[in-house]
Amino acid sequence: MLFDLDLIKKVYSDLPSKVHAARQLLNRPLTLAEKILYAHAYKPATQAFERGKDYVDFAPDRVAMQDATAQMALLQFDTCGRDRVAVPSTVHCDHLIQAKVGATTDLQAAIDTNREVYDFLSSISNKYGIGFWKPGAGIIHQVVLENYAFPGGMMIGTDSHTPNAGGLGMIAIGVGGADAVDVMAGLPWELKMPKLIGVKLTGKMSGWTSAKDVILKVAGILTVKGGTGAIVEYFGEGADSLSCTGKATICNMGAEIGATCSLFAYDQKMADYLKVTGRAEVAAAADEVREHLRPDAEVYADAAKYYDQLIEINLDELEPYVNGPFTPDLATPISQMAAAVAENGWPDAVEVALIGSCTNSSYEDISRSASIAAQAKAKGLKTASEFTITPGSEVVRYTIEKDGYLGTFDQIGGVVMANACGPCIGQWARHIDDPSRKNTIVTSFNRNFAKRNDGLASTHAFVASPEIVTAYAIAGRLSFNPLTDKLVNEAGEEVMLDEPSGFELPPQGFSVEDPGYQAPAESGEGVEVAVSPESTRLQLLSPFPAWEGTDLKGLKLLIKAKGKCTTDHISMAGPWLKFRGHLDNISNNMLIGAVNYFNGQTDSVKNSLTGEYGTVPGTQRAYKAAGLGSVVVGDENYGEGSSREHAAMEPRHLGVRAILVKSFARIHETNLKKQGMLGLTFANKEDYEKVQEDDTIDILGLTEFAPGKQLTVVLTHKDGTTDSFPVNHTYNLQQIEWFKAGSALNLIRRQFGK
Ligand code: F3S
Repeated sequence: MLFDLDLIKKVYSDLPSKVHAARQLLNRPLTLAEKILYAHAYKPATQAFERGKDYVDFAPDRVAMQDATAQMALLQFDTCGRDRVAVPSTVHCDHLIQAKVGATTDLQAAIDTNREVYDFLSSISNKYGIGFWKPGAGIIHQVVLENYAFPGGMMIGTDSHTPNAGGLGMIAIGVGGADAVDVMAGLPWELKMPKLIGVKLTGKMSGWTSAKDVILKVAGILTVKGGTGAIVEYFGEGADSLSCTGKATICNMGAEIGATCSLFAYDQKMADYLKVTGRAEVAAAADEVREHLRPDAEVYADAAKYYDQLIEINLDELEPYVNGPFTPDLATPISQMAAAVAENGWPDAVEVALIGSCTNSSYEDISRSASIAAQAKAKGLKTASEFTITPGSEVVRYTIEKDGYLGTFDQIGGVVMANACGPCIGQWARHIDDPSRKNTIVTSFNRNFAKRNDGLASTHAFVASPEIVTAYAIAGRLSFNPLTDKLVNEAGEEVMLDEPSGFELPPQGFSVEDPGYQAPAESGEGVEVAVSPESTRLQLLSPFPAWEGTDLKGLKLLIKAKGKCTTDHISMAGPWLKFRGHLDNISNNMLIGAVNYFNGQTDSVKNSLTGEYGTVPGTQRAYKAAGLGSVVVGDENYGEGSSREHAAMEPRHLGVRAILVKSFARIHETNLKKQGMLGLTFANKEDYEKVQEDDTIDILGLTEFAPGKQLTVVLTHKDGTTDSFPVNHTYNLQQIEWFKAGSALNLIRRQFGK
């Protein structure tokens, strides 16, 4: 048994009294998110937490880490002074496997290439009592859903799609590695009490529509920023009608609207999924506290009163959506896609269609997609695009192979990739004749920022359900609407694809030969964690220096970034993933994707010491060598995208002192604070325009740094004139201590007497 039944039973035995206490405190009925949050307060709440305002200490039940982020998290944990993790934790080797030829070859190549990193993760997991999922076992969120997630639980994960576990009724939040270190060290984990967005689902889906279309539609309504600082809670008879894995897809992609996480209430679909994945005891335990794993009945009756925002979607009317290119919130219903393709000049030819990933590789997704592939074969159609299938876990892969679905895909030319992230994270050796040619790909993944999948700015990536992606693979045209359009088969006849059909859960159950799990040693004493000093992939960490106790003066402007600056722009993935455990080496990708406001170029900034233009990391290293700090200026929603803390650690390591932006994405802002950086926002957004290329920058007010108190930025321009303006911050007292100590980790270390 991999899941911790005792822990789950303890959560459930405490739940009724904790929910009752929270209801008394708030003096009103509770939403599900409130029940779980109050039940996981680190110390019992003595007052109602104000949503969107109060910082609250929580005690999550588990931690999950993927291999790219686990390296830095565990390098940090290794220095914090504990000999075992305080809560059940797991590591999942999924991000470092490159999709090139097919599953077996690619997996072996990854094991050879990343041996040093896998050995490190395996040994450090063994030492500190962490479960280790080997390469090939599957993608973190799918493995967590299959093994660990439980209704009413709370977990954090060092990956932004951790909210996937909301499909099993868990509050699951994507964080940076430093937060994982806090929880593994047994310390409280802090979060601003989220706002609540309710999504009422009425009706029932049918035909080509799938759970993915719910979140594609929601993304179109809320945009990439609309969920920021909020938990999205789905409810209504439509919610209960969705399969558990469909719910997980919706929660997974809630990351694309910036939501803290998304959540569904415990229901029969979840119980069925728990049972089929070998967790009947969890379902039985959940059944006993069922009323506490759903919102209070009054909330259903008068939802607008209990949520900060309410959205209603009628599943009877929902049609399939295709979102993109370049952003997941550009949502187009399939009926309008042909017109949108013509109007926007999007390349019509679908060159590659990719299904699977952590978002959409459930048995339901695969069986429904395979039903379309089977029709293609029967109706004399072939795939017009390259077509790949990425299973989310070995359990899914083994089962869909046994049940014949992989064979069906193979018959129409589908290529099965390793159970790993692969093309979803730029780990894809794509074969394309001319990389500069504008081209279209369609995936059933979640994220489609420029260059995300294949590193090519010319690629227009669209996101749709796996059923629609499979139909596109056959039609080869983005303007194709499988609900209404005919295709011409090999015999020259016009044929139509029928609606997909499939199974929510495998009729014969899941099976697997080797799930790929390695349990940790009973005691980690004597387990060696070796990191070679010559390694280019791993580097032990040195603590960041504490604040010098004065205002920051004479800082250089490193870059004024223009427009979207996601964590992919700040710390690119793809080929850089291999340096995730080596802070100095990975810092050579710092901000190389950000567009310089002054010349419109990426990775080209003026070195104000020489007047020459150079790379961003190279210029910053020159400032560091000269003993000068710097400032990065950015636009709206700076740091959106992933939880990767490297995006905060790299500037810190290279000597950037502050990030000053119009607004931050939540996880990135917290990551900056954890690493002892100053994350500031313009009090008046127009002041962004005052920043000039040759400015020298002072940040004043730090000796009186206090919650809610503005700081002052003074720009000294090249001609000697100055501009001065107030800047805001969201540091609370604890976070100010992190800043002063140099990082949150520096404070933890002190706590364990190091
Ligand atoms: Fe991996 Fe992509 Fe999911 S990177 S964890 S498959 S979002």
